Amino acid sequence: MNKKTIDDIDVSGKRVLVRVDFNVPQDEQGQITDDTRIVAALPTVKTLAERGARVILVSHLGRPKGVTPQYTLAPVAQRLSELLGRPVRLLPDCVGPEIQQQVQAMENGEVVLLENVRFHSEEEKNDEEFARQLAALAEIYVNDAFGTAHRAHASTEGVARILPGVAGYLMQKELEYLGSVLESPKRPLIAILGGAKVKDKIRVIENLLTRVDTLIIGGGMAYTFFKARGYEIGQSLLDETSLEFCREVMAKAGDRLLLPQDVVVSSADPFQVGPDACETRVVPVTEIPAEWQGVDIGPETRAKFAEVIRGAGTVVWNGPMGIFEFDRFAEGTRAVAQALADSGAITVIGGGDSAAAVQKLGFAEKMTHVSTGGGASLEFLEGRPLPGVVALQDK
Ligand code: 3PG
Repeated sequence: MNKKTIDDIDVSGKRVLVRVDFNVPQDEQGQITDDTRIVAALPTVKTLAERGARVILVSHLGRPKGVTPQYTLAPVAQRLSELLGRPVRLLPDCVGPEIQQQVQAMENGEVVLLENVRFHSEEEKNDEEFARQLAALAEIYVNDAFGTAHRAHASTEGVARILPGVAGYLMQKELEYLGSVLESPKRPLIAILGGAKVKDKIRVIENLLTRVDTLIIGGGMAYTFFKARGYEIGQSLLDETSLEFCREVMAKAGDRLLLPQDVVVSSADPFQVGPDACETRVVPVTEIPAEWQGVDIGPETRAKFAEVIRGAGTVVWNGPMGIFEFDRFAEGTRAVAQALADSGAITVIGGGDSAAAVQKLGFAEKMTHVSTGGGASLEFLEGRPLPGVVALQDK
């Protein structure tokens, strides 16, 4: 990684504005249901505090329009306090004279959290004046919010034009692992892509196809490939606009592309009738009944994918193999996760659904790296520069 990190600067006694991604899922009562992103930021927060910095954390939560109490960072401040074993004050806003005063009065090693930066619409507009107000709180800027690095917002990009900006440890780790997939993978390099729509993965397929030894496609997107081959896919997911693209990929990839050979089909839509009300069958991909729909990869496919994964040097995985939200249809995703865990390969998991799947199925600890960025890891794998990274100082 060619960006400066917190190890390249002296932070002692300095006010350091740290962009973190504390956009964590919550239940209806506002309880945090997954604190992975908070835990992942701890090494940077702890190191800065130990080195005597005055740590000012800034994050968004959700997509509020103006000040919305539901999107307060109060539960996050509470969780962070528990994890750090010391109180973290939540300041009532992220800019303005009162906040300015409060950060001026901070002590070395103290940690505070600013209120949701998206309570100000200027954040997402990357408004220069707003970035100036944020920058005025500190002397140094650290970006540890990999999950938001694909957004050119005031707290991710604008502020780095004003203050000297460096990467935190989480940002560094994400860039190193995801970067190694694209730049210097241990071969053979295998990419596994799944999820619902081909459309969302066009750029990533294009970029990975120039680099991988094998491209495995499973999950909902596989059915558009089957349709492009002229198979009956019944009521399975179809992304009509991507049929031509699928044909091109199949022609270009040749035998580097591996598609499922059998699938689990369901007699009804499990989202409508509930998974238990569905009748299921395993069929070859050429024999999907007209009224049925694909919900998971079949046992022969699981075995074939596992065999290929066994010989891999590096595996990058983005998107589940079936409707893993329902235990009944999580077996394909579980088999792939198990194969990754059993392999000696470097295993890098994209954020979002894939990270949620390995977490839910209990494999997260067995992976080399599970990204904290959903959209960000996808854009990175597409080969696109991330504005929040570009803006940081080069080594
Ligand atoms: C995410 O969860 O992907 C990031 O926090 C970015 O959130 P956003 O999609 O609302 O910008």
